[in-house]
Amino acid sequence: MAYSLLCMIVFFLGILLWIYHWKNPRCNGKLPPGSMGLPVIGESFQFFAPYTTSDVSPFIKTRMERYGSLFRTSLVGRKIVVSTDPDVNRFIFQQEGKLVQSWYMDSFDDIVGKENVLSSHGFLHKYLRNLVLNMFGSEALKEKHLSELDGLTIKHLQLWSTQPSVELKQAISNMIYDFTVRKLFGWKESRSAEKLRGCYSAFIEGLISFPLNIPGTAYWQCLQGRNKAMKVVKSMLHDRRRASPKKQDRDFLDTIVEEMSKPGSILSEQTALDLLFALPFAAFESASSAVVLALKNLRSNPLALAELTQEHETILREKETKGSSITWKEYKSMTFTHMVINETIRLGNIVPAIFRKVVKDIEIEGYTIPAGWIILACTPAVHLNSTKYQDPLTFNPWRWKGRELNAGSKFFMGFGSGVRLCAGAEFVKLQIAILLHYLVTNHRWTVTNDGKAVRQPGLLFPEGFHVRILNKNSYEVAGER
Ligand code: HEM
Ligand SMILES: *[C@@H]1O[C@H](CO)[C@@H](O)[C@H](O)[C@H]1NC(C)=O
Ligand SMILES: *[C@@H]1O[C@H](CO)[C@@H](O)[C@H](O)[C@H]1NC(C)=O
Repeated sequence: MAYSLLCMIVFFLGILLWIYHWKNPRCNGKLPPGSMGLPVIGESFQFFAPYTTSDVSPFIKTRMERYGSLFRTSLVGRKIVVSTDPDVNRFIFQQEGKLVQSWYMDSFDDIVGKENVLSSHGFLHKYLRNLVLNMFGSEALKEKHLSELDGLTIKHLQLWSTQPSVELKQAISNMIYDFTVRKLFGWKESRSAEKLRGCYSAFIEGLISFPLNIPGTAYWQCLQGRNKAMKVVKSMLHDRRRASPKKQDRDFLDTIVEEMSKPGSILSEQTALDLLFALPFAAFESASSAVVLALKNLRSNPLALAELTQEHETILREKETKGSSITWKEYKSMTFTHMVINETIRLGNIVPAIFRKVVKDIEIEGYTIPAGWIILACTPAVHLNSTKYQDPLTFNPWRWKGRELNAGSKFFMGFGSGVRLCAGAEFVKLQIAILLHYLVTNHRWTVTNDGKAVRQPGLLFPEGFHVRILNKNSYEVAGER
């Protein structure tokens, strides 16, 4: 009797000690203030709670008010320091490969693959990044993809204008997806590509979700989708490796196969598969959200829409050959359009957080962030700071006028910063610019169902965004704009 009582006391003391250590993690210095929440779960439920404002998430906001710009928490079993400070963020991004490494939430790693370009380090990262930039960087866009994107956009807008209403997020996703997989895998694989598309939609919602691998959860569905998708990509890669090399019409898969067969190549099959799987997704999901947000913003601001329309009508008027596709020079001259895009990215915060893993203890602002912890750079907090951006929740493209910003300035990190600046940024901007050009010059549009955006904290449009696209010179309903 006395013995079992003793056991119980020791057991409870053990648990108390464990909880104490959870709440007060070890650190060779002073940790930033904050709460570690419940054991193991931490503050994950608060972090993943959906919200509908475009403001900084309530989770971050309340903690900023309580603790300041640097605070600690715990998410999905990880010890985290959140930074909402532009200088700290910039410092962290400059430390890539030194004090920190890029890291994606464990769920993200399982889903997107441990060896993808997002979480690879050092030399391999540079190598993969160059492969991607050769495909989607400015040079390739200008020389190879511009006229094709142009034709594709005209064609899709025409098609959509024959339909009573289109769900724009889905429609744009499909368009960008088709283009991307054609560039990646070539024409012939289009049936596999369709199969692959189905797999992607199975896991979008679980992408940034609580990593609970139990049948039925969003996370579980995610992993299922990935496994299926991987099978498709793998069989495409194997088929191509068996085929004889092409001289013409080469796609990304040809490049990958060629790189893999070089003696001493650092491109392993797993790395190649992860890259091929992650790219279409990186491309269509974020880019289609950006287009929807741009149209939502323009709808809320008729003056901006008018100025945008004027810019594109001027381009049309000054064209040397009528009806020719958009040139790179014209694209670069779309100043107001670029202001609209920047403002959409700033306000949209499509990527709600950027993560880095601490490799060596970091001393900053009088605090210590221990090795092994994760830093969550909360870029929205900077994009929505009223000191830097007046009336931060208002869509105001004119605020970009004359702003001399470098890509990835510490106040604008919508596409990240430093050596990991988004490899698809120019591709997305070009895509949006072309779409806006034809939308405002050839068409009119009315919103038939303006579904709310939800963030959890990844951006979702559960009800979609439905528009009716009309040809500019047709007036079907009297009185319609
Ligand atoms: C509006 C759309 C997009 C936004 C807001 C966006 C945002 C970002 C951000 C914030 C990062 C930095 C991540 C980090 O530092 O850890 C990033 C990296 C990256 N993005 Fe994008 N992105 C977009 C579209 C695209 C597209 C269309 C592609 C594909 C062609 C793409 C490919 C990549 C790649 C490959 C990286 C990793 C770069 C590296 O680590 O070197 N992104 N993106
Ligand atoms: C906004 O930025 C200023 C200057 O960088 C800073 O002092 C202030 O604390 C920030 N405000 C919020 C709410 O983060
Ligand atoms: C948009 O932002 C980028 C920074 O990423 C900057 O270089 C560019 O000048 C901005 N464009 C306009 C038109 O303000």
